[in-house]
Amino acid sequence: MSKKITISSIKKSKGVKPLVMITAYDALFAKLLSESADMILVGDSLNMSFAGKSDTISATLPQMIYHVNAVCAGAPNSFVVADMPFGTYINKEEALKNSIEMFQQTQADCVKIEGGADKADIVKHLTDNGIAVCGHIGLLPQSVRSEGGYKVKGKTPEEKHQLIEDAKAIEAAGAFCMVMEGVKAEIAKEITDAVTIPVIGIGAGVDVDGQVLVFSDMLGLFEEFTPKFVKKYLDGATLVKDAVKNYADEVASKAFPKEEHTY
Ligand code: KIV
Repeated sequence: MSKKITISSIKKSKGVKPLVMITAYDALFAKLLSESADMILVGDSLNMSFAGKSDTISATLPQMIYHVNAVCAGAPNSFVVADMPFGTYINKEEALKNSIEMFQQTQADCVKIEGGADKADIVKHLTDNGIAVCGHIGLLPQSVRSEGGYKVKGKTPEEKHQLIEDAKAIEAAGAFCMVMEGVKAEIAKEITDAVTIPVIGIGAGVDVDGQVLVFSDMLGLFEEFTPKFVKKYLDGATLVKDAVKNYADEVASKAFPKEEHTY
């Protein structure tokens, strides 16, 4: 993207144009991905695909700040969403202190926090103090240990009611958009229709206001597991492994370097 999208144009895109969000964790990929994405999310999923951990819980604020800085440097014209890691927004004061740190140490355009109505007071405190917030409702990866796994939401009337309450509470608290993860598609549509801010889905079907995918999933680089909602647009793992095998073979046979690679 040549010009950074603004919060007001993100809000105006609802019902007009689906938003494209993708994760990035470093400058190299941020630059490549920024050409076609409206928003880059520096997700705490980096703790899994980049740092090799089994979930996102152990991601830290300094770690996220490091990666947000790298992404902002690689894609200075992109709208960058900084995920606030587990434990950094346990109450209003902590949330504001840590979000200010994120804003002061990086060029992030907003923070993202997981939670619905239970986090509305925190979202309001941040937005009241000049921190733009992207919400995150539905399946909450930071709750994986307390919930005993990744559970798709919206399967019962109670869950549907709660999700609609969550979305409305986050909107009323001042969030300018929200991610909705792992929600039954027909419920996701109802939730999307219930609010006036864009709802960006991941595993939430097509009737939302945009989509987000983890870049290493959609490029087929992450091999450990593939969630049902991921489409692999590239068989990245095979391409990378084949290329490195080719290189190793050529080093062994001395086919590399050739004269054109030699001083
Ligand atoms: O951390 C992340 O990458 C996310 C996406 C799954 C939305 O929160």
